[in-house]
Amino acid sequence: MKKNIIKASAIGKIILMGEHAVVYGEPAIAIPFASAKIRVFIQEIDGPIMIKSHLYKGPFDQAFENLYPVFALVNKILKKFNKDPFGFSIEIKSTIPVERGMGSSAALAAATVKVLYKYFKVDLTPNTLNHLVNFSENIVHGNASGIDSAIVINEKPLYFIKNQPLKHFNYKLDGYLIVSDTGEKGNTKLAVSKVKEYINQQPETGITLIKDLGKLTVKAKKVILKNNPEKLGILMNQAQIILEKLGVSNNKIEKLVQVSLDHRALGAKLTGGGLGGCVITLCANKADAQKISQKLLENGASKTWLMKLNNKENFNES
Ligand code: PMV
Repeated sequence: MKKNIIKASAIGKIILMGEHAVVYGEPAIAIPFASAKIRVFIQEIDGPIMIKSHLYKGPFDQAFENLYPVFALVNKILKKFNKDPFGFSIEIKSTIPVERGMGSSAALAAATVKVLYKYFKVDLTPNTLNHLVNFSENIVHGNASGIDSAIVINEKPLYFIKNQPLKHFNYKLDGYLIVSDTGEKGNTKLAVSKVKEYINQQPETGITLIKDLGKLTVKAKKVILKNNPEKLGILMNQAQIILEKLGVSNNKIEKLVQVSLDHRALGAKLTGGGLGGCVITLCANKADAQKISQKLLENGASKTWLMKLNNKENFNES
């Protein structure tokens, strides 16, 4: 007889403005990215827990080396419920590219927590989910601001300030966003430590750059609420210049930014931790977005996604 399959999912995210500065208490704007999703399935089996994912396939106890954040999270939940690591398999299916600044680690943690609570038939409060996803994020990122957990749990656009109550950010902005993958893994942990080192070595300039990024995010919120994509594009370009100064950009990112601007994009910048990962390009309309997306693919992007920037349509891929 076929055994019951329990499932849960979580979607990715895009940081529009404010990455890195958000670690230092400045605001950031993030939106859900429904085109990229992680699904986690639990099925009852005889014997010890088995894991199946594209990163690792095998016994749970050996996931320690290969899939550490999931290993730690599952262990924490088993301990909490006083359960042994027996009796089920965990399968992970994902369309969120790993280490591209799209929140794959937070989404994986959120979906894993949700599916385990369902399996053990325990009610999951938003607070517990947030706590457990942050536990996993701190393993992955070191000193995480909490923005990734907040957005993958809430699945709504957020104006996020570290350690403050969440503010949903509802708006309707004309225009299209292209997310293009440099094809290179980013490294959020290293990027965050590079910014920290910059600030330690040159405190005055470093703190000014962080505060300037914060000011750009405050302005971005205003222009988004006024539905002014042209001005948002200018602010994105300014943010990219500061992120370059902080040392978290690289040649591939800058190439995709330049290709975007050479083909009438309103603005372009890296998104997330940087040092690889993805670039976001703001375009006035669908025709521009399609044309620029093609140019990005011809110039080294490994993949692109198009999103209509309209809350009502839930930022779906077009
Ligand atoms: O996980 P990523 O690569 O999207 O980066 C998160 C944003 C940072 O500001 C770089 C780090 C953080 O914890 O806020």
